[in-house]
Amino acid sequence: MNNLKNLRGTVDLLPNQLIKWQNVEKIVLEQLSRASIKEIRTPILEMTELFIRGIGEGTDVVSKEMYTFLDRGERSCTLRPEGTASVVRALIQNGMSSNPLQKLWYMGPMFRYERPQAGRQRQFHQLGVEFVGYESVRSDVEIIALAWDILGKLGIKELNLEINTLGDQDDRLKFQKSFLGWLEKNKNSLDLDSQNRINKNPLRILDSKNIQTKKILANAPRLFNFLSEKSQKRYSELKNQLDSLKIPYLENHNLVRGLDYYNHTAFEITSGALGSQATVCGGGRYDDLIKQMGGANTPAIGFAIGLERLILLAGKELEVPRNTDIYIINQGLIAETLAIDLSRKLRNYDLLVELDSSGSSFSKQFKKANKLKSKSIIVIGDDEAAKKEFIIRLFDKSSDGNKEEVISFENNTKLENWLNNNLLLK
Ligand code: HAM
Repeated sequence: MNNLKNLRGTVDLLPNQLIKWQNVEKIVLEQLSRASIKEIRTPILEMTELFIRGIGEGTDVVSKEMYTFLDRGERSCTLRPEGTASVVRALIQNGMSSNPLQKLWYMGPMFRYERPQAGRQRQFHQLGVEFVGYESVRSDVEIIALAWDILGKLGIKELNLEINTLGDQDDRLKFQKSFLGWLEKNKNSLDLDSQNRINKNPLRILDSKNIQTKKILANAPRLFNFLSEKSQKRYSELKNQLDSLKIPYLENHNLVRGLDYYNHTAFEITSGALGSQATVCGGGRYDDLIKQMGGANTPAIGFAIGLERLILLAGKELEVPRNTDIYIINQGLIAETLAIDLSRKLRNYDLLVELDSSGSSFSKQFKKANKLKSKSIIVIGDDEAAKKEFIIRLFDKSSDGNKEEVISFENNTKLENWLNNNLLLK
């Protein structure tokens, strides 16, 4: 008995499930390409230091959730928990961090050692988009609209966009001073998790889900009241532009995000249909990160969508596989070789052609074509092979004599006409 199993929090994606993944990915990639966003691929494995410096030591992701190990050369390596830090590293390393205006996307597996539950895995997948070199509020609006439209293209409804501003570094320093004073006074009333965050990552306390802590926080100083006039103006402008695009949003001044690199705009898109892991998309501005990691002083903004959550939200119609256009039924030595040749030729027409390679009886092959609901069939038996021809027939209209043709293997024009009249122009 073989009792080898996948690791907890990882999943196998089987052929039937992957139909939906592929359909979703296709729609997403088309939308990105229509917006002229270019792909970037970075390694899954990086130096641990990249994430410590990029994401922040006090974050849950870095302090509790990373898959970190020493490789055989005693180097500390980490399986990437997110994509932004890697993209920033790649841009700096390849001398691209000061290139003006780059719009980039990436898609792939990420790893976080979290408690697995519906919509939360240890190996999960993200689609990320980063606009690098973009400073204006307009780019914040453009990136939010892009995330919104990707979800819209997939027919996902009842989404909530939540926005907040985290101000700039000065704003946050001023707030932190006052907030830390308040936290010291109210420490004993906070939940244990929040108490532990006071010295490590106080801002994250604002995002606490603990009901008692939430109640007490209602009386805490608010980051919003420490924003400079400039930061406030920026935030108002963001709201105005979202209003004029008719993208609905909720303001959530407790939305601080779980990674340290954000400033000004932070946003999340959630869905009630997802249960407790409701956030399908999270993002924001990170103007200081590229410089802080050793690159040029370059502003940037981005988001990432969790693909597992996206798949849960996308409609059932995306689970339907593409129909087979032609199913090739064949039997006999010469017929089998001719059938392979014909299948290759037909695939050049962008048709989904399935070649029956079972060697089973004609009736079994017919049954299979029927089961697959193939739009048409081709039959090649010994008789047809001897005459160097094949029969092609619209499967569900076999009674209609016009829909069946006998075509010689050499007669490409006749084949093309039949395909055009029955499959391609439909
Ligand atoms: P994040 O909020 O940590 O942001 O993750 C983005 C999305 O990834 C989440 O909203 C969620 O849908 C998905 N996700 C996160 N953890 C898991 C998990 N354990 N299982 C399943 N899905 C998960 C980032 O990662 C930033 N890099 C986003 C960004 C890009 N900000 C600027 N640019």
